[in-house]
Amino acid sequence: MRVLVHTDAAEAWRKALAERLPEAEIITSAAPAAARHRADYLAAWKPSAELLGELTQLKGIVNLGAGVDALLNNPALPRGVPIVKLRDAGMAGPIADYVRYGVMHFQRDFDRYRRQQSRAEWCELPATDKAEWRVGVLGLGAIGARVAQTLADDGFPVHGWSRSPKTLPGVACHHGDDGLRELLPRVKSLVLLLPDTPATRQIIDAESLGALPEGASLINPGRGSLIDEAALLEALGDGEAEGRLRGALLDAFPEEPLPASSPLWSHPRVLVTPHMAGPTPLGEALDQVAEALRAMEAGEPVETIDPDAGY
Ligand code: GLV
Repeated sequence: MRVLVHTDAAEAWRKALAERLPEAEIITSAAPAAARHRADYLAAWKPSAELLGELTQLKGIVNLGAGVDALLNNPALPRGVPIVKLRDAGMAGPIADYVRYGVMHFQRDFDRYRRQQSRAEWCELPATDKAEWRVGVLGLGAIGARVAQTLADDGFPVHGWSRSPKTLPGVACHHGDDGLRELLPRVKSLVLLLPDTPATRQIIDAESLGALPEGASLINPGRGSLIDEAALLEALGDGEAEGRLRGALLDAFPEEPLPASSPLWSHPRVLVTPHMAGPTPLGEALDQVAEALRAMEAGEPVETIDPDAGY
């Protein structure tokens, strides 16, 4: 089988994949066009429409990330070609740490202490116990489930939400539209780990932000499209004085890089990070990629994504 690898670090992936799949020919998108055209499999993160359009003999695609939105929105995506995605591949641990940082940032008042420091103000604020700090996690896929359980193990009461019913030890699970309505008013920090699909786009709008309790905080290591940005800015309010929404830690944006003109950059109660919450470490991801390619080539069952559902 011939596998075409396309990522920012394609050469490192090519070498490492060749070691794991000695029976395969692994090339990168820098290979000559004639070689690219004959690729059987594509292992890629955000391939261009131009590249996808060239690959007319594809038998399968491995998405080198958890979110398949960029691939599914690519106009040149061939129909009917099975797509396998990385389901966790070492990303869930770093994302769980990112979320713990965010939850504790608000629960332990680091945001308020930072503002006090700027005024040289020494004032201990009343502490809120973890047991009083309910966290909501929207999205209970491989990553969301791990995040929810990590927070529960840390001692936070955790409410999880997914479209279809799920059960997770130590997590109060909700589902469907009614489940979301039950969850939102209960949580002090809301974490977004949903995929970008037509059903989740702008799920965090004025109505859902209005359903959160006064002073709630938002943590988004998921997708920018989940949030209606105008509604977010409205709920945050201006300046240092806390609005309905106390603050937000945001890692994903509808347009990345976040444009310099975005008011989020300079908002005093917003922390912006550059889509760094879940780096994909080569090692674990490579094992999953090699396994998926080998299984597809052998005609063995593989867990593929459902393009209609979007994940
Ligand atoms: C990163 O955002 C991913 O989807 O893996």
